[in-house]
Amino acid sequence: MTIHSQEQLEGLQHAGRTVAEVLRRMAEAIEPGMRTDELDALGERWLAEAGAEPAPRLTYGFPGATCISVGEEIAHGIPGARVLRAGDMVNIDVSARVGGYFADTGASTVVPPDSTLKRRVRHATRAALDAALAEVRAGARLNRIGHAIERVARSSGLRIVRNLCSHGVGAALHEEPTEITGYHEPRDRRLMRAGQVFTIEPFLSTKAREAVDTGDGWTLAGPAGSVTAQYEHTLVVGRHGPIVVTDLGWVH
Ligand code: CO
Ligand code: CO
Repeated sequence: MTIHSQEQLEGLQHAGRTVAEVLRRMAEAIEPGMRTDELDALGERWLAEAGAEPAPRLTYGFPGATCISVGEEIAHGIPGARVLRAGDMVNIDVSARVGGYFADTGASTVVPPDSTLKRRVRHATRAALDAALAEVRAGARLNRIGHAIERVARSSGLRIVRNLCSHGVGAALHEEPTEITGYHEPRDRRLMRAGQVFTIEPFLSTKAREAVDTGDGWTLAGPAGSVTAQYEHTLVVGRHGPIVVTDLGWVH
């Protein structure tokens, strides 16, 4: 969507704060021995208490309220009987419709103990998101986002998961502009427009160049032993920079 009024901006900011708070609370609630459907049930309750409807279920009939991807899983993991174990990397992606506005956020975290490698991949992915946010302003090429992510991935020695893209959001979970690549796409000549709402969500990995179907109809994963992180914000394009609506400080 494109924001045209203060009222719309405040509506989107409210939706953004809501999903960001649920993401943060879920990340803080993670404990070894917990099933991912137990973690999802917490998210579902907190979304409901905030008057928010889970967007993946609303839009695609996804089986959970949130997406929880563990270990080699990269995205769209179905909450279920899988038990979180010490050292597991966990990605939580929370998107919802609140008061008519859709916002989308995600973060990767680790069930303690953390490792140097998992910390490094998460740190680089946050740095890639920061670098991409710094490119956002009305009139700039949309492909500056992928360019910035690529620069950080290269300097960190990590791969970009190329088939997962950032996307327009606001009036729907996924809308125009679609296919905002996580790598530099010189043929993409689109410009960012003031008020435009989209996500930035880099996925950086030790091994995965592509997130592959695992056969359950939803979950996408990388190769065995791969470590992949994602961080995602929803933002509004401003004249001089982004207005990030899902930023409550990093989930680490
Ligand atoms: Co998301
Ligand atoms: Co998204």
